[in-house]
Amino acid sequence: MKTIAIFSEKGGVGKTTITTNLGVSLATKNYRTLIIDMDPQGHVGRIMGVGPTKKGILYFLIRAQVGDEIIKETRIPKLFVVASDWSLADFTVNVAQHPNRHLKLREIIEKIKDKFDIILIDSPPSLELITLNILLAAEGVIIPVALTYLGLVGAAATLRIMAQTKKAFNYSPGVIALVPNMYEETPECKELLQKLREKLGKRMSKTVIRRAPEVDKAQSYSVTVVEMSPESPAAQDFEKLADELILKIGI
Ligand SMILES: Nc1ncnc2c1ncn2[C@@H]1O[C@H](COP(=O)(O)OP(=O)(O)O)[C@@H](O)[C@H]1O
Ligand SMILES: [Mg+2]
Repeated sequence: MKTIAIFSEKGGVGKTTITTNLGVSLATKNYRTLIIDMDPQGHVGRIMGVGPTKKGILYFLIRAQVGDEIIKETRIPKLFVVASDWSLADFTVNVAQHPNRHLKLREIIEKIKDKFDIILIDSPPSLELITLNILLAAEGVIIPVALTYLGLVGAAATLRIMAQTKKAFNYSPGVIALVPNMYEETPECKELLQKLREKLGKRMSKTVIRRAPEVDKAQSYSVTVVEMSPESPAAQDFEKLADELILKIGI
């Protein structure tokens, strides 16, 4: 298994943060890693210091262009990024007449798969056809769960979307793990984590990502926290998560 979506229908739960930190961590461990940003906000490119592709991500998805002006090198050796931009918001209209419009991402990944050990897909909060493309392209899914009441509701909704996809398309990627994020040593947080573990048991990751101000600070400097503050709690958790992922998917 090598194509992994970081997926949740809820915004602000840590999808982009987990994607970029995992990407840096995996590449540093010598895995050839590609991040594909499927969120038109384009935050992955901003954090990884990679501008949007000259002609836009639609050239990658629709015209199947895969040159080095689209799959870009980053400052981290072995880490490559397909950056996103607002043209992605026009994806649905652009492929409206294509019979296989839900499989565009899957088809393009099929073409480039052999060049990488792992492909991470960052997801937007909720854009129907893009979400569908992501779920039909991914072999496995990591679902970040913000440790708040609404975060739990968001996780349940995300699992429901995956079940609906399975019903409609007879395919849905496996859940690699639900990853609790923004953990704090408060009674409320502890209780929410306990509840999650009771409900979801083994589907939860062993790793819990702690809330740390260094995460936001690093992003404001356009870097990841594993690069800027490797000794911060969150950075150590991301490294642990990368190790857990490697074991789980067997790369
Ligand atoms: N473990 C963490 N500790 C502190 N801040 C975090 C943590 N994870 C995410 N954040 C912050 O929360 C915000 C939302 O995270 P982001 O990864 O952009 O979510 P999403 O991609 O799901 O919308 C960002 O400002 C990010 O810096
Ligand atoms: Mg995001």
